[in-house]
Amino acid sequence: MMAVASAPAKVILFGEHFVVHGNPALLAAINKRISVTAGTIEAEKIVIRSDIGAAGEYSGRVFKVLRGGKRARVLIDPIHDAARRALGSRDRDGGIEIDLCSEIPYGIGLGSSAASCVATVGAVGSLLGRHDRRWICERAVESERMIHKNSSGADCYISTFGGLIRYGRKEGYKKIESRESLSIVIGNTGIKHNTGEMVAGVAKFKARKPKVFQELMTRADEICSDAASALESGELERLGLLMNENQLLLQQIGVSNKKVDELVRACSAAGALGAKITGAGGGGSVIALAANEKESARLAESIRQAGCDPIEAQIDYKGLVV
Ligand code: PMV
Repeated sequence: MMAVASAPAKVILFGEHFVVHGNPALLAAINKRISVTAGTIEAEKIVIRSDIGAAGEYSGRVFKVLRGGKRARVLIDPIHDAARRALGSRDRDGGIEIDLCSEIPYGIGLGSSAASCVATVGAVGSLLGRHDRRWICERAVESERMIHKNSSGADCYISTFGGLIRYGRKEGYKKIESRESLSIVIGNTGIKHNTGEMVAGVAKFKARKPKVFQELMTRADEICSDAASALESGELERLGLLMNENQLLLQQIGVSNKKVDELVRACSAAGALGAKITGAGGGGSVIALAANEKESARLAESIRQAGCDPIEAQIDYKGLVV
């Protein structure tokens, strides 16, 4: 038996980091995907191969690297965990073989780890006849917590359900209907970040300056609500200004850096309506909002001239496809 699932990458439009501490965030799934093929095999093992250069096999508690040296295990352990969670405790003979193929660079804030966990649970779950998206998402969130234990769960939600959502740890998720189509250009600084370390850095900032952090949370919350209504009413210019303001908050909590600031400035100078970090920061990616598709190509060119890789993205409304 064989199943194929794919799940989209994402951008966080507003509220990253603050979402870990209970605020809402606005997210959009984008049309770049990770595909997972899962097949049953006779041998009692789980074999995982990823096109980012890592492969290994698990026989009970024993792990054997097949490709990628020492870093292989760190990269594929969450996939193994996702597969195990999908399999549950049911007794079954034989094993599973899993192949991942990604259109998303990893470690740059586009949610590649969440999308791999969602697609893995989706593919393996489908071999057992499980297709319930909520069931899949819950398991993927747990596996993503192997990568950074304080994950808000936002990335797995958007990757599973697609579209545009407002997400909060307590409030759950709510779909947002955008009146205008969004032309988003992503600029990859090429600097990989470790989300767990970035999140821990913000927790330290909060512990050192609780009052300041609380004020920033309050403003981030207001920005999110304003942005949701700007999306619903199609006010792209207002949305852009709110993105710029959100970026100032991210600078204050210490997740921006010189390269990111330069890229944000380059996007603004090239006519972006707004620009900010997306995801954990510390490098990673910047998103810029273009006024229309023509402007989007111009923005992509100025991102290239700033020495970064542009990705022109559209919103993905499909989410997980099995
Ligand atoms: O950089 P990414 O794609 O791992 O996104 C992290 C988003 C954070 O808000 C910083 C963490 C989280 O769990 O929501």
